[in-house]
Amino acid sequence: MMPTTDQPKTVGFVGLGGMGRRIASRLLAAGVPLVVHNRTPEKVRELEAAGAHVAKSPREVGKQADGGIVFTMTSDAKSQRSVLLGRSGVAQGLLPGGLVVSLSTIAPEESERLSRELHERGLRYVEAPVGGSTEAAEAGGLAIYAAGEPEDVERVRPYLERFSRRVFVFSRVGQGATAKLSVNLLMISYLGVAREALALGEKRGLTREQMLELLLDGSSHSRVLELKAGLLRSRSYQPASFSVELALKDVRLALQAAKTAGLPTRWGKEATQAVRRAVEEGRGKLDFAALADPTLEPPRERPEPPAGPLPPSPPSSPLEGAGEAVGPAEGPGEVG
Ligand SMILES: NC(=O)c1ccc[n+]([C@@H]2O[C@H](COP(=O)([O-])OP(=O)(O)OC[C@H]3O[C@@H](n4cnc5c(N)ncnc54)[C@H](OP(=O)(O)O)[C@@H]3O)[C@@H](O)[C@H]2O)c1
Repeated sequence: MMPTTDQPKTVGFVGLGGMGRRIASRLLAAGVPLVVHNRTPEKVRELEAAGAHVAKSPREVGKQADGGIVFTMTSDAKSQRSVLLGRSGVAQGLLPGGLVVSLSTIAPEESERLSRELHERGLRYVEAPVGGSTEAAEAGGLAIYAAGEPEDVERVRPYLERFSRRVFVFSRVGQGATAKLSVNLLMISYLGVAREALALGEKRGLTREQMLELLLDGSSHSRVLELKAGLLRSRSYQPASFSVELALKDVRLALQAAKTAGLPTRWGKEATQAVRRAVEEGRGKLDFAALADPTLEPPRERPEPPAGPLPPSPPSSPLEGAGEAVGPAEGPGEVG
């Protein structure tokens, strides 16, 4: 149930990228008056046409949100800090007692720091990173990992429920971020291993379709592979729902969180290296499903050729012809 007053209060929303604008749309469709801001103004047009009021800065969003609640959904901790605590940040506009809800995936320590600094300014803070794709955001099917003071979480719960299928609640800021990173560490590492399983089958002549069907049957089934099977079939990874770049941010954050906790991360390190390589080779903007596609794997590392005439072309991949390689990393696969 949304809060019931005669005149619903305006809620703020900053950061209207792939996730933010879908979440904001759901709030708007549920009858929540919204005041919004995005660094790149073109991205707010659709919401504006649907009835959102557009503010010229995060500070103005804080000022105009008479419900005293502002959601933020920017890429990372740096941008969160900038839109919240910068010179034209939300904190400059919100009245004391105002509440910030950070939906971004950031490090637990960063979230704790933001919480502390906002509290020092008389503001409240709930971290609420989300699990799920842009499609899930659009359908109201996200998982939310919320943490903060119980009364603050309860204050925002009616809004969270408008775009989620489940709200996990933790008692301490930082635990929501930790929950989110644990989930993504497993999910992203899984795609790395799925790539090896697909490579093995395809090298021995099984088709992509056959491989997907058998990996999705029985105990090897995973939700992420199920959701990404369509992209792996079409071998087309743009536009990205969740990009390889964002996946790299998340596995790095997970590794850092584990390091801070004094925990080893053997598989996580492997996964991070694979994702980092994908970004370095120009696949950062692709959907992270590309991490499971063996035909996008770069050639196995070889010693640097001596200076002089160009080296001969590398041998053809046995997977060539199995499908069209996508993106700038076209070429023979490592699986040969
Ligand atoms: N995509 C997913 O499936 C998914 C799933 C779960 C969680 N997440 C998390 O959700 C967050 C947002 O992801 P997304 O997919 O929506 O990313 P996105 O489409 O790249 O959007 C990023 C948003 O952050 C804004 N931004 C970036 N740097 C900024 C800065 N310095 N100052 C102000 N605004 C800045 C962008 O503004 P501009 O438009 O001006 O660039 C844009 O509104 C990330 O933390 C991500 O890890 C994403």
